[in-house]
Amino acid sequence: MPEVRLVGLGKRYGKVVAVNDVNLTVNDGEYVTILGPSGCGKTTLIRMIAGIIEPTKGKVFISGRDMTGVPIEDRDIGYVFQNIALFPHLTVRDNVSYGPRARDLPPEEQSAVCRRFLEMVRLLDKMSMFPSELCGGEQQKVSLARALSSGSKLLLLDEPLSALDSRVRVDLRYELRRLSKELGITTVHVTHDQEEAQSVSDRIVLMRAGALMETGTPEQLYTRPKNIFTANFIGETNLLEGWVREVQGVMSTIELRNGGMVRVAQADLEVGDAAVISVRPEFMFPAREGMKARVGDITYMGTYWRITASTEDEEEVCFDTPTLDGNPLTIGKELYLAVNPKAAVLYPRPEDGIEEAIKLE
Ligand SMILES: Nc1ncnc2c1ncn2[C@@H]1O[C@H](COP(=O)(O)OP(=O)(O)OP(=O)(O)O)[C@@H](O)[C@H]1O
Ligand SMILES: [Mg+2]
Repeated sequence: MPEVRLVGLGKRYGKVVAVNDVNLTVNDGEYVTILGPSGCGKTTLIRMIAGIIEPTKGKVFISGRDMTGVPIEDRDIGYVFQNIALFPHLTVRDNVSYGPRARDLPPEEQSAVCRRFLEMVRLLDKMSMFPSELCGGEQQKVSLARALSSGSKLLLLDEPLSALDSRVRVDLRYELRRLSKELGITTVHVTHDQEEAQSVSDRIVLMRAGALMETGTPEQLYTRPKNIFTANFIGETNLLEGWVREVQGVMSTIELRNGGMVRVAQADLEVGDAAVISVRPEFMFPAREGMKARVGDITYMGTYWRITASTEDEEEVCFDTPTLDGNPLTIGKELYLAVNPKAAVLYPRPEDGIEEAIKLE
C-alpha cells in the first residue's frame, strides 16, 4: 500500500504563495483529510501530490519514490477533481470502466468492477447516459465511482461530495470510509467542511493561508486543539480573555475580562499571564456562581437549545441546554455561567489579539 510523504513542499504563483513549506506523511492505508478555509491551498496541495501541478519547492514521495517529473498517469492514483472532469464523449459505463480497461482486466471483470461501484453510488440505472445528461450531483458520483474502479491503492479526492445534497453526502461519507478501509486504500480527501472531515478521517490536517496549522485525530483537534485557530475553525467555541490569578497543582483559576472567575484543568501558564480560554457551548452551563450574563436569544436545535447570552462587558457567549424538559430559560433572564474545568482549554493570549489569531487568511 502506498505511503505519501511531502517534504518542504511549496507552490508560488508570482507573489501569491499558494502552498508554503508543507511537511507531511500520510501512512499506508490511512484516511487523511486536508481541511481549511477557501483559498488556503488545498487544491494546489493535492494537485502537487497527483502530479498535475509542479511544485516550486520541495518533493513528493509516493511509496518512497521521488515523484519529481513523474506525470499523473504514471503515479497510479485514483483522482476526483474539484470541478468534476468526466470524459464527455463516453457514457457513464465507459467512464467508470476506463480504469479497469486500462489495466487490461478481462471484459467480464471490467463489467463487474464497473457495476460494483455504480451500485455503490446508486447509479446503475444511468449506465448508458452521457455526463451532459446528468445533474451535478450524479456527475460527482460517477467521478467517484471512476476513481474507485481505477483499482489504485492511492485515492486523491478534492471536495468529492460538495455537489451532493446533505443526506446523500452523509451516506457517501460513510461508504467512502468503509470502502477505503475494506480495500486497504490510502486516501487524501480535501474538504472545507469540518463535519465531513471529522466523520471520515483517521487524521485531519488543518491548513491556513498555504501552511499546515495543526494535525491530529478528529478527537484531538476537537477536544485539545493546540491553536486558537483550530479551536475556532473546528466546531464552535467561546473564546474568553482573562488573566491567570492562581495556579494550584494541575488547576488554574482565570479571572475573565467579563468579570467571571473560571477554573481550568491545566497549569502551563503562570500567575499574571494574559490568557484565553476556549470552551465549547456544550461545556458551559447555568450555575450558582461564575460569569454573570443575560439571555439574549434562544434557538431550538432539535437535540439541544442554543442559548446566546451577553456578559457584563457586552461579550456574546453561547451555551447549550438539553431539550428534554422544554426550555427553562427566557429572554432577558440573568444568570451565572460555569465552565467544565476539564473541557476548557487554556492558551497564552496571542500578542496580536484573538481576531488576528482566528482570521481565515
Ligand atoms: N493558477 C493559478 N494562478 C494564480 N493563483 C492561483 C492559481 N491557482 C490557485 N491560485 C491561488 O492560490 C491560492 C490557493 O488556491 P487553491 O485552489 O489551492 O485553494 P483551495 O484551498 O483549494 O480553495 P477552495 O476551498 O475554494 O477550493 C488562492 O489564493 C488562489 O487564488
Ligand atoms: Mg479547492
